[in-house]
Amino acid sequence: MRVIQVKDYEEMSEAAATLLFSRVKEASSLSLGLATGGTPEETYTRLAEKANKSNQSFSHVNTYNLDEYVGLAPEHPNSYRYYMDQHLFTKIDIPKEQTHLPNGTAVELRNECNRYERLIKRDGGIDVQLLGIGANGHIGFNEPGTPFNTGTHLVELTDETREANARYFSAKANVPTKAITMGIASIMEAKEIVLLVSGQSKAHAFAQLMDGEITEEFPASILNNHDNVTIIADEAAISLHASKHVL
Ligand code: GLP
Repeated sequence: MRVIQVKDYEEMSEAAATLLFSRVKEASSLSLGLATGGTPEETYTRLAEKANKSNQSFSHVNTYNLDEYVGLAPEHPNSYRYYMDQHLFTKIDIPKEQTHLPNGTAVELRNECNRYERLIKRDGGIDVQLLGIGANGHIGFNEPGTPFNTGTHLVELTDETREANARYFSAKANVPTKAITMGIASIMEAKEIVLLVSGQSKAHAFAQLMDGEITEEFPASILNNHDNVTIIADEAAISLHASKHVL
């Protein structure tokens, strides 16, 4: 895993947007795996700015989001579809039918998981997967204990994750209890992975990712086994790891 150290959230966002923008520019066709959460918000803003400044089209790009809450319709302000529309899709020229997320309101949720997994495979797999990390090491919504061999599946969110995401909802009680997420195996099939880590609240997770063992109890640890991972991490996120190592 390559680690790019940056000063703060702004620098992390700029570095990530620059990297993604160059992939969009260089490819004749690109499958981008996308993440939600607070971490990539500014990356998306900057990516759209770069595209608009240089008239870069996204018409050759397909996107596949990592996850979606169960029970939230696309127009619900807390759905990840809504988030993606707000932060990226409406700011670039990507056709809506080329933007994919699991459908959290599907009647048959298990069928929806299989459909989504097959869709990604049918389209040739993900070229570049953007990731954030939960304080407990989750990636997508793969909580600690998720088997490493999982494809897209239905998950019960942990209390910790619902608490962490409650800041976007009017009350914790309104945070859905279930989600559909790409699995660890789905994520590991991406040709390239870009992991963003920012802030003091992620310092433990970063240190464990770098120093800890590879275990299902810390889902992100599997990234150590992927041969093309770039981590863009800011000073606060690196702080605990840096105190133990000379970087
Ligand atoms: C959320 C998302 C993840 C995200 C992570 C961290 O629950 N499902 O995809 O990477 O938790 O979120 P944040 O960037 O807001 O810290």
